[in-house]
Amino acid sequence: MKLDGIRACVFDAYGTLFNVHAPVGKVAAALGDKADAVSKMWRDKQLQYTWLRSLMGAHSDFRVVTADALDYALDANGVSDAELRAKLLDLYMTLDAYPDARRCLESLKQKGLTTAILSNGSPEMLEAATRSAGLDTHLDHVLSVETVGIYKPDSRVYQLAVDEIGIPAQEMMFVSMNAWDASGAANFGFKVARLDRLDMPPDNLPGDIAATIKTLDEVPQLIG
Ligand code: LAC
Repeated sequence: MKLDGIRACVFDAYGTLFNVHAPVGKVAAALGDKADAVSKMWRDKQLQYTWLRSLMGAHSDFRVVTADALDYALDANGVSDAELRAKLLDLYMTLDAYPDARRCLESLKQKGLTTAILSNGSPEMLEAATRSAGLDTHLDHVLSVETVGIYKPDSRVYQLAVDEIGIPAQEMMFVSMNAWDASGAANFGFKVARLDRLDMPPDNLPGDIAATIKTLDEVPQLIG
């Protein structure tokens, strides 16, 4: 399958290019059998807080939300360790990229496409993560929701990509491993490839998903 007329490829960052479970993985010994539960709850709460803050009209940047969510996850799992907390938040600034992320971006640049990140992350977080993973040189735009002060899936976030990249939504492919973000972007008007690394069904939300892919290596092949 090929998607015609695509001039730019816009990626979600966390979960799509970067492994959000890498920080806990690196300190797993300190958390013992609570490691997986802490990591999962940290991510779940982080996303919930973005949606809830957006509904409340009480925006704080992703660094604050990430720290609040970690505090909740540690507390709920009975972990009280200030040093570990600080270490986890530090590690979150320089997340490991998935190996297919760099291959995909390199291949898209070779094909002459415009590449971008559109993420909930704050500009500092995105700068640190893309630089430490060596992805920065393959990205034309790194766009943060901080410009509009509200989180995905608010349409103002997706509009930011259209405005900053200067290409209509239907001529851009949006790629996200977060099914709800894939739906949000499709509902807005992007051609969406939902990345399904974990064999999960799509969300039952508005927005027609154009393609479902298992790895980012499939992205360049989708573009006609
Ligand atoms: C992001 C979150 C949704 O990068 O993972 O925007």
